[in-house]
Amino acid sequence: MFRLNVARQFVRAARMQPALAAPRAIQPAAAPVRMFSSSPFSRKDDYNRDDVDAATTAGEPGESGAHEGQYARTQDSIRVEYPEEEDLPRSQPVQGRGGVHDKRTLGSFSLEGRVAVVTGGARGLGFVMAQALVTSGADVAIVDMNKDEGQLSAKSLIDTFKAENPGSSKIPKVTAHFCDVSSPTSVNQSLTEILKEHDKVDHLVTSAGFTENYDAISYPHDRMQKLWGVNVDGTYLYAVAVAKHLMSRNSPGSIVMIGSMSGAIVNVPQPQAPYNAAKAAVRHLASSLAVEWASAGIRVNCISPGYMLTALTKKILDDNPELQKQWTSLIPVGKMGRPEDLMGAVTFLISDASLYVTVRCGSARRRGLHLHVSVDRAMSRRVPGVRKIVCLICEASLGWRNRESWPGSQLKWSLKPAHVQ
Ligand SMILES: NC(=O)c1ccc[n+]([C@@H]2O[C@H](COP(=O)([O-])OP(=O)(O)OC[C@H]3O[C@@H](n4cnc5c(N)ncnc54)[C@H](O)[C@@H]3O)[C@@H](O)[C@H]2O)c1
Repeated sequence: MFRLNVARQFVRAARMQPALAAPRAIQPAAAPVRMFSSSPFSRKDDYNRDDVDAATTAGEPGESGAHEGQYARTQDSIRVEYPEEEDLPRSQPVQGRGGVHDKRTLGSFSLEGRVAVVTGGARGLGFVMAQALVTSGADVAIVDMNKDEGQLSAKSLIDTFKAENPGSSKIPKVTAHFCDVSSPTSVNQSLTEILKEHDKVDHLVTSAGFTENYDAISYPHDRMQKLWGVNVDGTYLYAVAVAKHLMSRNSPGSIVMIGSMSGAIVNVPQPQAPYNAAKAAVRHLASSLAVEWASAGIRVNCISPGYMLTALTKKILDDNPELQKQWTSLIPVGKMGRPEDLMGAVTFLISDASLYVTVRCGSARRRGLHLHVSVDRAMSRRVPGVRKIVCLICEASLGWRNRESWPGSQLKWSLKPAHVQ
């Protein structure tokens, strides 16, 4: 089977060679040249090779129609640069969901008495997540490059809480602090400031981050370094600073990193290779730190949102209506997420409701059942006695197993609710 595949690829490669030299003319219905093939179809007289080959990799570009691959490619023409601050409207608190209620719920979701830091909390997803934590009982320190907006956002969270909880005996403390998360000095200074105001920190959400769309060939190097500096270094630096503080107090805690589905799949059509790589780094950083700090009682998880309609994405889509159509056409539920759709996820992962959850990367597209398959791959043939386990849903490679622990001749599969990556 393996040899036949290699042979087929060899034949296909051989047939593609002349096409590189000169464009191929429209071919007659009968197949002119076929060196040899293992395909049973080739032996049928009525088989029209061109119809089938046009839709495969044997066809010339465009041979199977104008639609060919159009929703699965990046387009270099799309170049979205980060909008100017003054072009972005401020995020507004979610209204009407934070008041007292008498519905029964698990006490372990409560964050009463806890202090959480949210980086990038002045706006967008970070702001809504900060509101979720305040609503669930925490005091919150908003950390952001944009301190003015951070202060306005802190005030609006307190005002909304007061309006939705009239007569509440305890008003949450919400503060705002300047920080450039890509700078270790700035991170340490802001944490010192936070500890002066709040005495301690129990939780961290890292939402400071940004994306830009340049094709890889033209990406300015300094912008790429900045992007990685904020998305990757910034996530790492704040997580380490908070973990050090927790360890010095000998206290458990939890950290939620905001990744992106772009860390697991290649988003289209906008080209954004450095952003995708940065979010893949955040995802694996969460996994690595979760393992490293598990013994200290510090849980680390990662939320990988899909397309969320924040003020920033709304501005980008208002300027590029075609992009919105393409994005939503790729979303199984047919619409973008609202920032408040992540309030439950962040509260769950930060709170004691998820005490035995660490290293969980929740992705909007990849929740649900995971299909683990044990396959005899080419490589395992070279190492007799082992088989490769892969997840067909999220493509994670789950390592190797001895044949004895998962016996069977060719292929075995099992459905799992989720797996630790
Ligand atoms: N919006 C989406 O559709 C989406 C989807 C997946 C992942 N994400 C990720 O979620 C996070 C938040 O995105 P958003 O859409 O809310 O963006 P946003 O621009 O609305 O908010 C980001 C916040 O981070 C702050 N910030 C930027 N650089 C900083 C720095 N160096 N130091 C401190 N603060 C800084 C900004 O001032 C801003 O307040 C990002 O990491 C983003 O990559 C967003």
